[in-house]
Amino acid sequence: MKSSIIIRNKISNFKKNLSMPGDKSISIRLILLASLAIGKSKIYNLLESEDVINTLKSMKSLGVNINKIKNYYEINGVSIKGLNLKKKTKINAGNSGTFARLFCGLVARSNKKINLYGDKSLSKRDFSRVINPLKLFGMKFKSSNNKLPIIISGTEFLRPVIYEEKKGSAQVKSALMLAALNTPGETKIISVPSRNHTENIFKHCLNIPIKILKKKSKEIIKVSGLKQFKSFDYKVPGDISSASFFIVLTILSKNSILKIRNVNLNKTRTGIIEILKKMNAKINIINTKLYNGEFVGDIIVKSTKSLKSINCPKSLNTRSIDEFLIIFLTCAKAKGLSKFKGIGELRNKESDRLKVASNFLKMIGVQIKESKDGLMIYGNPNLELNGNYVIKDYLKDHRVFMMSCVAALTLGGNFTIKDRDSIKTSFPNFLNILENLGAKIQ
Ligand code: S3P
Repeated sequence: MKSSIIIRNKISNFKKNLSMPGDKSISIRLILLASLAIGKSKIYNLLESEDVINTLKSMKSLGVNINKIKNYYEINGVSIKGLNLKKKTKINAGNSGTFARLFCGLVARSNKKINLYGDKSLSKRDFSRVINPLKLFGMKFKSSNNKLPIIISGTEFLRPVIYEEKKGSAQVKSALMLAALNTPGETKIISVPSRNHTENIFKHCLNIPIKILKKKSKEIIKVSGLKQFKSFDYKVPGDISSASFFIVLTILSKNSILKIRNVNLNKTRTGIIEILKKMNAKINIINTKLYNGEFVGDIIVKSTKSLKSINCPKSLNTRSIDEFLIIFLTCAKAKGLSKFKGIGELRNKESDRLKVASNFLKMIGVQIKESKDGLMIYGNPNLELNGNYVIKDYLKDHRVFMMSCVAALTLGGNFTIKDRDSIKTSFPNFLNILENLGAKIQ
């Protein structure tokens, strides 16, 4: 299979119903937690992407028996104390920051050393954010510069901690919650609110004693550890981060309508919907329900001609953290100046997404101003492309690939987009779904 794709035509109008693959954050968390349960858990609609497959393989290598049966994964949990760690255990996290960081907390009790490594992109990312707080529990880490590869040494003599998480990182919060699960006594995490899937699974699936208090703009999460839990069944809702590319594809296309069914609309994840609605986008949410603490529903989105710019409130930043690339593209077509502040975390994602987005927008002729932790985009509703564009050198960041496809299919021009395999990280059938909507991709 060739590693680049070519898109030379805009997509024609479409009217379709779709469903998205399972949510990546939830899929990874379910595998980790079902592995520590007692009994067989059944997980339906688990995302089958490389990040999740690396999670499955890693847990299998630690003695967890996992099988795919018909349309579900059966995970035979080994209990909180039951992971079978051998000497010289090596764990490959691939591209997955979520798995790698949560794993550091999951194995807090392990008295054998574990070598955790990942791909080129993951090896550039910061792990001090989990290493520093996990050391407070009594764990030890060896690494150069707090980057992968890391040698993790857990201990049976863990102590509960009080820690303030200031970044609004769900990965850090979740890593600490998993360490707390392994630790006697009560751990207290004071955090800036971020996606709360770990909390929801603790509460609604595992019945783990967890207390969440809201205090001003912070949350205080208290976890009492070493309380064994039982297996559970779960049907993973569709991933809003994957849906976001199709939402914007529809908004920027002419005369099109899309219904995306059964998407996870947890409020900690729906920043993109609020931002796009503030920009005038035609989006409706229907058939909503609550499932294991997650708000789920169908999204109906229509082409929108009169997009307007946004001065994005900082309060929406963590709620749309993975969607900024596609939001920036929408701003390029909106009338007026869009402003984003306090989004420096984008520089620590699979690629430096602020820099990659700035370079991309400049390349397609959009005026921007990039700062250390912000971006201003001078939108142009008449933006139409007819040049040749090559998208490369973006550390195979899956979301850059998908954003580039949406740009090519809605703005015109001849696009060559390298590293098609990048989508395997989160959305292996992304291109097939685009083709089913009528996109012509070579
Ligand atoms: C994730 C949290 C976010 C997000 C990532 C998935 C998670 O990262 O960007 O793609 O599943 O917890 P941070 O917690 O580092 O912001």
